[in-house]
Amino acid sequence: MPVTAATGLVAGTGAAAGTVGKEAVAAALRTTADSEYDGSDLWLRYVPVEDPGLLRKYRETVTTVIVENAGRNKVHRHTPDLSMAPGSTERLVETTLEAARDELVRGLKGLLDRAVPVTTEPGDRPPDGAVIVGTRDSSKVVRQHIPAGDLTPLGDAGYLIRSFTRGTQGFTVIAGNTETGALYGTFAFLRRLQTHKTITRLDISESPRIRNRHLNNWETVRLYAGNNASGTGGLNGENGTIFNFAARGESAGRNLPVILDRYIVVARAMASVGINGITINLVNADNVYLTPRYIAQEAALADALRPYGIKIALAINYTAPTDPRFAPDTLTNEQLDPHGEDFRGWWNRRAGLLRAAIPDFTGFTVKANSEGQPGPQDFGDDHGDGANAIAAAVAPLGMKIYWRTFVYNAEVDEDRLKRAYLEFGYIDDERQSDGTRGRFLDNVFLQTKNGPLDFQAREPIHPMFGRMENTNQALELQVTQEYTGQDEMLCYLGPMWEEALKTDTYATDERGRLLGKRLMGHIVDGTAQGHADTAIIGVANLGNADNLTGHHFAQANLFAFGRQSWDWTLDSADIAADWVRMTWSNRTNVVGTIVKMMMGSWEALVSYQTPFGMAHQFRSSDHYGPNPAERLARDDWSPVYYNRADSAGLGYDRSPTGSDFTAQYFPTLAARYGDIDTVPENLLMWFHHVPWDRRMRSGRIFWDDLVYRYQMGVQYVTWMRLTWEALRPSIDARRFAEVRAKLAIHEADAGDWRDTCVTYWKSFSGRDDPVDDGPLSIAIVVGGRRIGAFDLSAPSYSIPVRRGASPKITKVIPADRAARYEILSQADGVPGQAVVRVTKEDFFGPLVKDYVFVMRPT
Ligand code: GCU
Repeated sequence: MPVTAATGLVAGTGAAAGTVGKEAVAAALRTTADSEYDGSDLWLRYVPVEDPGLLRKYRETVTTVIVENAGRNKVHRHTPDLSMAPGSTERLVETTLEAARDELVRGLKGLLDRAVPVTTEPGDRPPDGAVIVGTRDSSKVVRQHIPAGDLTPLGDAGYLIRSFTRGTQGFTVIAGNTETGALYGTFAFLRRLQTHKTITRLDISESPRIRNRHLNNWETVRLYAGNNASGTGGLNGENGTIFNFAARGESAGRNLPVILDRYIVVARAMASVGINGITINLVNADNVYLTPRYIAQEAALADALRPYGIKIALAINYTAPTDPRFAPDTLTNEQLDPHGEDFRGWWNRRAGLLRAAIPDFTGFTVKANSEGQPGPQDFGDDHGDGANAIAAAVAPLGMKIYWRTFVYNAEVDEDRLKRAYLEFGYIDDERQSDGTRGRFLDNVFLQTKNGPLDFQAREPIHPMFGRMENTNQALELQVTQEYTGQDEMLCYLGPMWEEALKTDTYATDERGRLLGKRLMGHIVDGTAQGHADTAIIGVANLGNADNLTGHHFAQANLFAFGRQSWDWTLDSADIAADWVRMTWSNRTNVVGTIVKMMMGSWEALVSYQTPFGMAHQFRSSDHYGPNPAERLARDDWSPVYYNRADSAGLGYDRSPTGSDFTAQYFPTLAARYGDIDTVPENLLMWFHHVPWDRRMRSGRIFWDDLVYRYQMGVQYVTWMRLTWEALRPSIDARRFAEVRAKLAIHEADAGDWRDTCVTYWKSFSGRDDPVDDGPLSIAIVVGGRRIGAFDLSAPSYSIPVRRGASPKITKVIPADRAARYEILSQADGVPGQAVVRVTKEDFFGPLVKDYVFVMRPT
């Protein structure tokens, strides 16, 4: 945490005090501290507002903080001696209003660069410059100034921020129906200052579109945020995850129930974007989390998170009741009958233990009959039987079941993508004895990934969205970047989720009429089909790295997930801009540049990994690099199963003449995706086996477009690397260097994707790389000769120069009129080297190619 880091620097810079004066020391201190800033505050970085005019305005508008009765509603605390680890800088609060007050005080102190007094008494009328936070219960000011009718519709998480003007002065009220709502409003108010927005004449009312906005924390796999002993923070006996349950060695004293700073930072960050729940363990669940020792630790964690409006849940294993660790309360296999009392009774007892320690425990996430996890099918029952059994057991305790639909049993269908709907759809359709449809109980959510495969960088939407009218549907997104560059590649996922959430499902009602509201977001927020309980889940990217997410830019994905789960209609570019202002800088050029980098980064990754709807070409060992030729024990884990490369073309035919997966979509989408002439090109190979010489919309044949697309992805990363370099003066040193180092790896690894894939495809297409008409293709003139046919994937080009002729490039001729070039250097002689930089803004952003020409004598 930078504030404390600065303390350590005082000694080092103290010697200068006498000679350069106090202010200079303070400035030097800040710069030094900044230059070492490690990213550990996430976006809750409250640095002084740089613009003097704005700072003055903010200081005039906010002079005092008033929080009445902050200590009144103590949240439940199970752990009597709950405490922070020795030396912590964060502190434990006892109420949500205390959390709001402390955040406001901390934030304003940083942003306004001076302490803002806080009082508990508003007096008869709030003073000018007051910011009042509370509920109608806690605060007289709120009662007097905010009519109940304005607040009630905002529900239990919504907030209102309203300015009251008197002459040129006035005060600001931040109110919620609940203290959590008031806390969300506080963060929203601070965000306005952090992003340099106006804080006068405000009348803001907000409430979340989706009720349950949760993280699923996979604590032991796909954790790219700190499980690396060398690069990102070290282990010291920790296993790399965010929450310590069983750290050893040096960190043995830092296990729960001890609370670490980073838990509080994460709680504050989650609350700042409205995330209100977290399943704390991996979906391939370890039963240890259900043992009394762990439950005590979980209770301490829940205690620490509770003031921030965050409730915890656990992932469980369906056959946990048979685990000897629970002896004497264990069941035999025969007792696992979901219809029997034994099975239900066991889950009710275990949930009861959790409930006793964690009164607001939300329930269980279940991965059953999926990737080797046990489930009801092992005993001849189906997902409906299994989910309902546990749901019925925990319903009396007010808990819910999030039953994952990530299933793909090979016996169900040849096409892996069809399997989930085949296993769940009929249960949703099933007519019940009371005349209603759908067998799943009301406290069951089916938790479904955004696409039908597995978090690929581009997938069509999962066809279950909209087709499960009678069941609660939770959308699962992957924040941790398993398939999107992990902690090496800069890939902002906001646009990907926006694309999914704003996709038209063309859902119809039972009479086949199109629904009025039918985007994926409407299905998820319940407005499409009238669902009251709604949920969105982000597979989290939290770890013990200094910056908590591994890559500094991975913080943006957590931020975006929170913002989009609060309001999926938001524009991902606006979210990026907020994040950049809060995390890096408010300088216009920095904001503009970084947002631009972020906005193209996902489409670039799609381009160099899996363009035009190609899927899952990852090497199985790590899901990071490519291995399109790989054949694994299971067909449907193998890249070859997805690419179907042959001499005719590339891609998986899922049209009516192929696997007919397209039939699982509503008719309009089914028709659109099922026809190679109407499917969007970015999903082409997802649904069709595409002939190498098919004419594309660009006018080129498929093969040529494909290779250019791989190259474009890499060319974008080159642009990002160069662009970041130019930001050096505006970015603090440590983070600048860390991102810079990652971008170099990113560029090289993107090149590896391009080369590995294109080389492999070539062995089927029998064609060479296209040349001369790519977006960055050029010809050059040297010694009066025009030379072209440059393969854009090559690192350099050998140019024969006749003895005595000049090696100078006299002309550069770009193939694309929109491309620009610059001769960065000419060869002084032969042998020698010249560099030409070609740039072009393409559909997802700027591309750069540095042509390195090696002049050699003929
Ligand atoms: C992916 C991932 C697994 C994970 C699984 C899931 O396949 O690689 O580690 O368990 O998704 O969502 O359950």
